Amino acid sequence: MAFPPLWDGSTIGRIGALNLDRNQTIDRASGQCGRIPESVKCPRGKYLMPINVGGAGAPDNGSSDSGRLGMDAITDFMAEDHRSCDALFVAVEQAVARGAWQAAGNEFRRFHDAMLHHFAAEESVLFPLFEQRTGMYRGPTQVMRGEHSQIRQLLSAAESALAESNADDYAGTAETLLIMLQQHNVKEENVLYPMCDQYLADQLETLLPELQKQIAGEERLSR
Ligand SMILES: [Fe+2]
Ligand SMILES: [Fe+2]
Repeated sequence: MAFPPLWDGSTIGRIGALNLDRNQTIDRASGQCGRIPESVKCPRGKYLMPINVGGAGAPDNGSSDSGRLGMDAITDFMAEDHRSCDALFVAVEQAVARGAWQAAGNEFRRFHDAMLHHFAAEESVLFPLFEQRTGMYRGPTQVMRGEHSQIRQLLSAAESALAESNADDYAGTAETLLIMLQQHNVKEENVLYPMCDQYLADQLETLLPELQKQIAGEERLSR
């Protein structure tokens, strides 16, 4: 199976990591900053989007008459969590910019935990199911697992810089982290998640609640 050029690790442009405010996020396709939609400004641990599989009753937001999940349900659900993590990252940046190191540390822990929960949802739930269904064990999921490892290392480096109140080290690491995250999320949202929607459409009833449980941190993390 052929994948788009982004899978070769090519870059899609540098982003000014420290120029985002709390309501901004990154457009994964264009690399431009935009506003975070109201729908993602919900506390973590709650449903990031309505889960209403099987058409029984109206969806929580009343936006559809059918109550059925769309063809892009996995893509939509996981992309929403990318946005949610982006917002937590921005809060760290803002605290660092103010020199509020204690607040930055607190915000970073929220961001860090959210990232690990998101990775756990992918690595322990979504990717294994995709691999079983498609037989592709050395394809996109292997690439994504490798990038998760690199991102975990960057998170550790950023954590150390914050612990030392080292603004320069933090800024350098954060910029690399932001670019890496952006490229990673583009690949997932444009390629891997749509493939999951294609191959796992009949699994949504159990898959989405399981992803939600991981993202909400109800399962133990292996750090
Ligand atoms: Fe990922
Ligand atoms: Fe992801």
